Amino acid sequence: MSENVLGPIVPMLRAAELASLRGRPAAIGAFNVNFYSQAEGILEGLRRANAPGILQASRGANKFQGGPGKIAQMVVDAVRNSKHSLPVCLHLDHGDEPAARECLDSGFGSVMLDVSKLDYDANVAATRAVVQLAHPKGISVEAELGHLAGVEEDVSSAKTTYADPFLVPNFFDKSGCDCLAIAYGTSHGPNKGAGLEKLAVHIVDACYRGLTAHRQNLSHFLVSHGSSTVPQELIKEINSFGGQMKDARGIPMDRIQAAIAAGIRKVNIDTDLRLGITATFRRYFAEHPGIEK
Ligand code: 13P
Repeated sequence: MSENVLGPIVPMLRAAELASLRGRPAAIGAFNVNFYSQAEGILEGLRRANAPGILQASRGANKFQGGPGKIAQMVVDAVRNSKHSLPVCLHLDHGDEPAARECLDSGFGSVMLDVSKLDYDANVAATRAVVQLAHPKGISVEAELGHLAGVEEDVSSAKTTYADPFLVPNFFDKSGCDCLAIAYGTSHGPNKGAGLEKLAVHIVDACYRGLTAHRQNLSHFLVSHGSSTVPQELIKEINSFGGQMKDARGIPMDRIQAAIAAGIRKVNIDTDLRLGITATFRRYFAEHPGIEK
């Protein structure tokens, strides 16, 4: 079903790494998708940017669409209908083992196992178990090291625990995973807090140095979760049409760029898309009273 339409993630991330090594720091955007028109919107954004990209579905999105096979078909339809010609990959965001298993036979090119709440050895072992299922099918695996603050699906945490850069080469080596989300001060959701200009980009830098020192950087990649910029014009629009968003704050764009320059190769965005959709719906309902009749 996904043949020739959805591709693997690793070649895209490797291309970003090669561009970075040539002095043009690059990362691939990974955008969360929940429904069809959102998929077309993301593809249109990629087309305008002339960029390859990753569409990612969480367990909640898969459930909402009736299962991973349905969401994969939806993304394939969106790629075909929009005549999108740049490489696109479908990834499971924040999965557990059962969700990853389901996605392995449903057209996904990559799955994430989010078990960073476990201790280090258990995280490695659980990731390794999914890698052993996924790699024979040509599907890559993302894991997480450290802990992000904020809420994503049923995973919530009040505070960040930074990834330990010394563990990164060992984690890749022992688990066999391809991508690793490293906690360095970003957080999920629209309330990322003050002081983000002090984002711990030095953690990314140290993790990436470990990768290059161990010659892992062409096949192993660092991921930034919680990377939405939370555009203030969208917050204003939402609030002017009845929303009550307070203290909404995202990651400044120059900090994301600094993190990419330091070694991030996949950048996850969900909240910014939700804000765009919320603003559009709120405006539409306000401007079309009685539409529900
Ligand atoms: P945001 O909430 O910043 O968009 O992060 C999304 C994310 O990391 C999805 O995995």
